[in-house]
Amino acid sequence: MKRSLSGIKSTGIPHLGNYLGMIRPAIDLQDDYEAFYFVAEFHALTTERDPAAMRESTRMITAAFLAFGLDPERAAFFRQSSIPEVTELAWLLSCVTNMGVLERAHAYKAAKDAGVANHLNHGVFSYPVLMAADILIYDSDVVPVGQDQIQHLEMTRLMARHFNNTFGGDYLKLPEPMVREDVATVPGLDGRKMSKSYGNLIEPLTAPKKLRKQVMKIVTAPTPIEEPLDWESCNVFALYKLFSTSEEQAEMRANYARPDFGFGHAKQALFEKMNAHFEPFREKYDALLADTDTLEDVLERGAQRVRPVVGEVMERVRSATGLGRG
Ligand code: ADP
Ligand code: TRP
Repeated sequence: MKRSLSGIKSTGIPHLGNYLGMIRPAIDLQDDYEAFYFVAEFHALTTERDPAAMRESTRMITAAFLAFGLDPERAAFFRQSSIPEVTELAWLLSCVTNMGVLERAHAYKAAKDAGVANHLNHGVFSYPVLMAADILIYDSDVVPVGQDQIQHLEMTRLMARHFNNTFGGDYLKLPEPMVREDVATVPGLDGRKMSKSYGNLIEPLTAPKKLRKQVMKIVTAPTPIEEPLDWESCNVFALYKLFSTSEEQAEMRANYARPDFGFGHAKQALFEKMNAHFEPFREKYDALLADTDTLEDVLERGAQRVRPVVGEVMERVRSATGLGRG
């Protein structure tokens, strides 16, 4: 069975972009792949400075994956820090990775341009190396992610090839990214990519009242109510599309042309659709979040499941590089 692997940073509660772009596709893959998914605490640490928030986020993400349908009997779900060998592999990869490659990373360039001294730490610079280690240490075949992670996957493949060429063997397996076209980049409240760093999030697992508030904040064009609204350029419609059938979309397009239909109506319709979609998940999520023992048990069993694979790959790379007695 081929292996699917992905990670998500412990920097808050999952948002709609995470859910549509990564969580749902990743969970769907558990039927046909051996699924390994983890909470990327080491990556979160490049910016997170609050240990309580870090732990709380790990629990929220674990509860969310379970509520959305991750089956811990089939899929392994674990903390990145349970497998400290990834930092060892990251070092081995660092030693075959040119600085120039990392200097071209979008995330590093953005952090540098933003000029936030505190966030331009060495962890941000070497982030892609650790991510490559995360992927390569499990002999992963596919990596379900949103579009924004494509450059990281390209770098991962580059590092694996370079490692293999340097030490003369097929030590590391080259993974393939898996991006779902329709949700490759889910737009946020302001139409830009939904992202924690833009503060434009919709958080579908929060209470309905808060969710409604977020939906009502979606930025729309300043069209007077008696004029027809343009659905093509509308953020509300872009999100509505992701939760409705083609008939419902046709109906909504017709609504946009009506003189008595405003963006407020469109937002209310979107809220109702999303709320209905997430209601059953939210109930499970709330129950799971309160059940720390179950969450910890899932995380521990997940770590145990993946350890044998880690052992095999690390033996291969240690032997390839001349570490230990050989
Ligand atoms: P964020 O990007 O909000 O900081 P993460 O980096 O932890 O969150 O992202 C976890 C996963 O969610 C990644 O696979 C990423 O590509 C995906 N993702 C994040 N935002 C979006 C989005 N707006 N559209 C599609 N996928 C997204
Ligand atoms: N960089 C990813 C993100 O920001 C999180 C991540 C860390 C990841 N390690 C990974 C994703 C390995 C896929 C595979 O979303």
